[in-house]
Amino acid sequence: MNVELTIEKLVFGGDGLGFIDKKACFVEGALPGEKVLARIVHEKPNYAKARLIRVLEPSPCRIAPPCPYIQACGGCQYQHLPYEEELRWKEEQVKESFRQALKLDPSMIRPIQRGPKEYGYRNSITLHRTRQKGNKPQRLGFIGRDNRSVILIGNCLLAEDALKKIFTEEHTLGKNEEKRVFKTDEEGRIFSSDNEKIYSVRVGSCSLKTNSMGFFQNNLAVTELIAEQLEAWVRETGPVRFLDLYSGVGTFSLLAASAVPEIHCFEENPYSMSCVEKNFKALGVPLGGIHPGKVEKRFPAFILPHRKEKTFVFLDPPRQGIASSLAEFFSKENVAENIVYLACDLQILIRDLKTILAGGGYTIRDIIPFDMFPRTKHIEVLVWLTRT
Ligand SMILES: C[S@@+](CC[C@H](N)C(=O)[O-])C[C@H]1O[C@@H](n2cnc3c(N)ncnc32)[C@H](O)[C@@H]1O
Repeated sequence: MNVELTIEKLVFGGDGLGFIDKKACFVEGALPGEKVLARIVHEKPNYAKARLIRVLEPSPCRIAPPCPYIQACGGCQYQHLPYEEELRWKEEQVKESFRQALKLDPSMIRPIQRGPKEYGYRNSITLHRTRQKGNKPQRLGFIGRDNRSVILIGNCLLAEDALKKIFTEEHTLGKNEEKRVFKTDEEGRIFSSDNEKIYSVRVGSCSLKTNSMGFFQNNLAVTELIAEQLEAWVRETGPVRFLDLYSGVGTFSLLAASAVPEIHCFEENPYSMSCVEKNFKALGVPLGGIHPGKVEKRFPAFILPHRKEKTFVFLDPPRQGIASSLAEFFSKENVAENIVYLACDLQILIRDLKTILAGGGYTIRDIIPFDMFPRTKHIEVLVWLTRT
């Protein structure tokens, strides 16, 4: 069914929201103020999703997306909007989510922070196998807007220049290898996930060792901004102990907490773990302990004997957030004086905060969104909780 509607705002994920007889309708690619013709593709009792067919009355903000693959590729959601507008809407989405889910006054959310680059900021790209099976050389691509097909592209505007060649080169995947991650080091050399290698990445004044089989932050300029903020909060609170949960190679411990007397890293990826000690040693920072394995298993037993001491916990979990058992542990046991949670998924962050805050032992002290992934729907949010 085709419908005409006027778009009111951009919701989390980048869709334009309008209403048809009071029913919410989400239209991908439509902008606030626009009158659009759209086709309903998915209908539920309380909302519908529609595909944009034609913009009948365009927004004065609408711009031509610079990427020629935008119609098919699923990576970007905001290229048709000036970057300043994207930032304004993302900040609005964070305010709205916290207001709705946690009844928080939107004035508590600080302005969204941005890095210097709107494009060309990614030092890591994941490419997928097309339908071609086997191990013959082939070009790899991005998952399309339909979430199924693999789209071959000549270049991605989000990627650093050094990564350009991976899009047009042919790659030979192993029999069961469905995707490959390509990353750059501080010299612009490329490392990929089929070949285990340790290499160096520079964030601000620190050169850190990382492993091609482990995680490293994708946007280094914004990582530096986040670390500066974290360092300010660590300095302000003067903890005796900094616990880096989901530490990777120890990035935030080293960038933001090197002055804390006792630092511990908790991480399950053995490739990342193997770099932690190397990084602390190279930077001359004493390491209190490494705790390999699942955070939800290792952390509770470690912290309980130290609950009365001034501990600062930093959480930087993957997109799935923290285990529910860990969120409940924080909620019940109030083991740390300060907790800072860095999240790459707004909805998951809200889920975890709801659980942690339910015990009444913590309050939110500060919230800062960071635009780690310009032109895409993603928003990184840093939240500081203090014990009440
Ligand atoms: C978003 S990354 C953050 C890494 C690090 N803080 C950094 O900035 O580079 C999440 C990390 O958590 C690790 N991880 C995921 N689930 C985990 C779990 N249940 N227990 C321990 N580590 C986990 C991943 O291996 C990854 O290194």
